[in-house]
Amino acid sequence: MTAVGIDAIEIWTGNLKLDLPGTFAPQKGEDPEKYTKGLGLNASSFPDSYEDIVTMGANAAHRLMERKGLEPDDIGRIDVATESSFDNSKPVSTYVAGCLEQVYDGDFHHANKGERKFACIAGTQSLDDAYNWIRAGRNRGRSALVIATDTALYARGDAGEATQGAGAVAMLISEDPDLVELSAEQGYGSADETDFLKPNQQFPSVDGKRSVQVYLARMREAVEDYESVAGDVHLDDFAYAPFHTPFPGMVRKAALLAYRHVIRNTSVEEELADEIGRQPRAEAFDTDEAYRDALRDYMDSLKETDRYREWYAEAIDPTLSISREVGNWYTGSVHIARASALKEALEDGRDMTDERLLVGSYGSGAQAEIHAETVQDGWEKEIEALNVDEQLAERYDMDWEDYEEIHDAHNHEMDVDVEEFTTPSEEFVFDGWGRMGERKYRYVE
Ligand code: CAA
Repeated sequence: MTAVGIDAIEIWTGNLKLDLPGTFAPQKGEDPEKYTKGLGLNASSFPDSYEDIVTMGANAAHRLMERKGLEPDDIGRIDVATESSFDNSKPVSTYVAGCLEQVYDGDFHHANKGERKFACIAGTQSLDDAYNWIRAGRNRGRSALVIATDTALYARGDAGEATQGAGAVAMLISEDPDLVELSAEQGYGSADETDFLKPNQQFPSVDGKRSVQVYLARMREAVEDYESVAGDVHLDDFAYAPFHTPFPGMVRKAALLAYRHVIRNTSVEEELADEIGRQPRAEAFDTDEAYRDALRDYMDSLKETDRYREWYAEAIDPTLSISREVGNWYTGSVHIARASALKEALEDGRDMTDERLLVGSYGSGAQAEIHAETVQDGWEKEIEALNVDEQLAERYDMDWEDYEEIHDAHNHEMDVDVEEFTTPSEEFVFDGWGRMGERKYRYVE
């Protein structure tokens, strides 16, 4: 069977930066280490006044098409995943196609376009759609463009304000891909949950503490479901485990839980038993509360063991390097986690060809999905081409007043015009409103 997967990836960050320990924490009267150590974040990316989900998505897609030497005829689908959409009818993918048609001779009239919504997991679901379309033989030799783009802004004063972010990831899904092959096996954990939602409103209603618990519960279910089709997960079989990263501290919790789950009844649990005992089993306890207390004690001990710390440093920490500097990109977040890991591997001179990744996606509401990926032999060239470090370094560093202004400027309920902080160059920009309230865009040389 021909491999199907991600052939190329490009990342586009919002052009502004909010320094969380330096600028945000002092204004909130909080210890900067709550951000750097607790949440695991140094900064958030923000959109400048001329940026939005369309410009960021189109810019990532344009970079990708240029680098791969693609023309519109090479693309048979454009799927945009977002939870920041501004129109309940016209999909963002049509706006993105309109932008790209400004800079290419051809058009995307024969490409199927859509918009996927299921909170942050929609980016991965769009990969599925593309994979299935290719596997079904309906692609006529063409590739799919999947774009995950979000402005993850929270209401001022909401606890989630610390985890904001804005950016886009464009991915090309093809047969015989250069970057990673996607596994046919998948596991799901899905339930009707009320942890984070936007009932026709721009900023989310969030039960932050509950959302953390729901993430963990659904992710655990997804791992079990994945194991039921792919066999038990052995962590040594996976070089990295990129997870959805609303903030790195969330992944720290998920990784510990996943580790405990997969070492249960294995030689690793036995080897650790001398040091920290065996894992508590529910049947050995009279009450659920006593069992939960024992589990908590076991997890506290487990996370201090050398064995766990080494695995975390090798398989998880490298997935968090971009996220630490940009915050939550919702649909794009798990895809920047994959890119971070491969980028770290490249910088460490590690040979990744044929290595496997265990990828964990999550969307509030809620659903988790687990699948595996196999790194392909073109990975080095693909990852070398990323310019994300330059983009991050070039962001304009906002002071507190700048931040207040730009947050208001992006607030749909406020009518605030803000001078741009950065000068656009070789990118699509928002260019005002059309007669039916549609957004207009233009390419700036
Ligand atoms: N030094 C070190 N650590 C510190 C610290 C300090 N001085 N001060 C606080 N911390 C730690 C805390 O102990 C805590 O870590 P633990 O959870 O491991 O104990 C961490 O920093 C955060 O502190 P708080 O819990 O006090 O932070 P908070 O109450 O202000 O809010 C939050 C945290 C609930 C996650 C909030 O940011 C939020 O609502 N975020 C949006 C929702 C979200 O991202 N949920 C994640 C799961 S849902 C999802 O994944 C979908 C999605 O993308 C939104």
